Amino acid sequence: MCGIIGRVGRDEAIDSLLTGLENLEYRGYDSAGIAVQNGAGINVEKQSGKVSSLTDSIDRNDLAGRLGIGHTRWSTHGPPTDENAHPHTDSTRDVAVVHNGIIENYAEIRSRLQRAGYEFTSQTDTEVVPHLIQRNLDRGVEAETAFRRAIDELEGSYAIAAICDGEDELYAARQGSPLVVGIEGDGYFLASDVPAFLEYTDTVVYLEDGDFVTLRSNGVRITDRDGNPVRRDRHTVDWDAEEAGKGEFDHYMLKEITEQPTSLAQSIEGRYDPHTGSVTLDDLETFEGISRVLLVACGTSYHAAQYGTIALRRSGVAADAILANEFSLAAPPIDEETLVIAVTQSGETADTLTAVRQAADRGAKTLSVTNVVGSSAARETDQQLFIRAGPEIGVAATKTFSSQAVLLTLLSHRIATDTTGSSSLPIGQLCVELEQLPALVETLIEASDARSIARRYRDQESYFFIGRGFGYPVASEGALKFKEITYEHAEGFASGELKHGPLALVTPETPVFTVFTGEEDETTLANAAEATTRGAPVIAICPDGHDAIQTADAHLAIPDVNPLLSGILATIQLQLVSYHAAALLDREIDKPRNLAKSVTVE
Ligand code: F6R
Repeated sequence: MCGIIGRVGRDEAIDSLLTGLENLEYRGYDSAGIAVQNGAGINVEKQSGKVSSLTDSIDRNDLAGRLGIGHTRWSTHGPPTDENAHPHTDSTRDVAVVHNGIIENYAEIRSRLQRAGYEFTSQTDTEVVPHLIQRNLDRGVEAETAFRRAIDELEGSYAIAAICDGEDELYAARQGSPLVVGIEGDGYFLASDVPAFLEYTDTVVYLEDGDFVTLRSNGVRITDRDGNPVRRDRHTVDWDAEEAGKGEFDHYMLKEITEQPTSLAQSIEGRYDPHTGSVTLDDLETFEGISRVLLVACGTSYHAAQYGTIALRRSGVAADAILANEFSLAAPPIDEETLVIAVTQSGETADTLTAVRQAADRGAKTLSVTNVVGSSAARETDQQLFIRAGPEIGVAATKTFSSQAVLLTLLSHRIATDTTGSSSLPIGQLCVELEQLPALVETLIEASDARSIARRYRDQESYFFIGRGFGYPVASEGALKFKEITYEHAEGFASGELKHGPLALVTPETPVFTVFTGEEDETTLANAAEATTRGAPVIAICPDGHDAIQTADAHLAIPDVNPLLSGILATIQLQLVSYHAAALLDREIDKPRNLAKSVTVE
């Protein structure tokens, strides 16, 4: 959802700015641009298209300078044209600005500035910012104050960075969109996310909403809105650049699918006792007094939340999953006995943050299940459960889904035990199988037939995914992944729903991926048969030796484990099918069109 990068140092900024943009491209890739200040003016290069086109077309000599900002865009206001690409400048190019977020009152500011004679060249909300700064400079105030006063006029969400001609400082402000400072021996970075500068430094300071930061090559100053100094702790991030890189894989997505034996092992390590069956989950406080759990999330995380909801209900806890963007209009009653769990890989999804804030306002206790330490969700919730899946760069979420699902399952047992004194989950068996899970996932990935199935069923009209119980969110997730990266039409249904409408669309050109989790499989088989009768090929995702294989056209094998885990294993097969189908279609797998990894607008 747009990535911003800034660099102030003793060396030339251009290389680290371009590296930063490449590393941030997962946040948006409609257009890219850079502005560098060298004491003799600000030079800007920007264009629609990917960072690689920018890199290929620029002359680095024209962008000499030790202070600069850059941006990779996911369009909100205005199409992805050269004019709408960031950085935006004022008419004299004395000021350059990059922005992530949405300025809600931009239309009113724009008309006011236009009436005062300021000329606009783009359709973006961002362009008001350099003009506001310039207007303040015109009034004779110094650059930092000009920046602060401009920011004071904005309503909405933003992470904004600006440079001004003749100033060797970079100014930035955060309100509702992520911003992190990287500290290196020879200077400072500013970025939307840590991977932007991980090659250069792992020492970071996470900025909070309301923070202003001024960076120079020899120092950083963080203040609040009123200019009072603010102390923010330094952190050392525990991933390295290699971990965040693509390694020998063609795509991040395949790397991240393949990493699941490790990411799952990291997620569960030390969080339960296989001998006693107790679930510790770090030092989460007791959930005593909670009578109802509400999980809020979007996209893939919503499917994990649905998975967790089933686990909670099975444990004996009243639970619901709600799409975060529906929360304000459709939330059930909430009080102090409600626990609201924000399930969010990035911890920055605006819809999810808004929902959790509204829930907190109504008295709910809050917990985030997230991958990103220092994210907004982690900072704003009462308690945090980090999924520890490692960096996920591919826009399509994969390893974070399996880690979310497995941790929500463990959390269900813990919440049930705390609130009712017992849990109905078969925790003994679960703990034994969790010990085997990483090895089972490794074998599944090595032996998967997903590639040949993707080849066999290419060029179909539509792709359906069905399942029941835990298999339903898995089917929904299978369809989301498939449509997201192949651009083919795909839908996920509860298998019992097929006959209530979707069957009208089933033809011999509609492969039906059917998930069997070991619960009510005969009924799911009957639902699959309804599709077979209409000529549709059925691909059964089930253990070897399962009855479904006899009538299915094809089979993707999963180990025969408890349904709580078999759904997770089935998801991995479906991730691989989507990946290989998209690879055969030559899609931009890591950067599917119109999407971005971190959606920081509502
Ligand atoms: C799909 C995908 C998205 C995200 C959704 C929520 O592959 O990645 O659907 O799951 O945007 O993101 P987080 O989990 O960061 O809140």
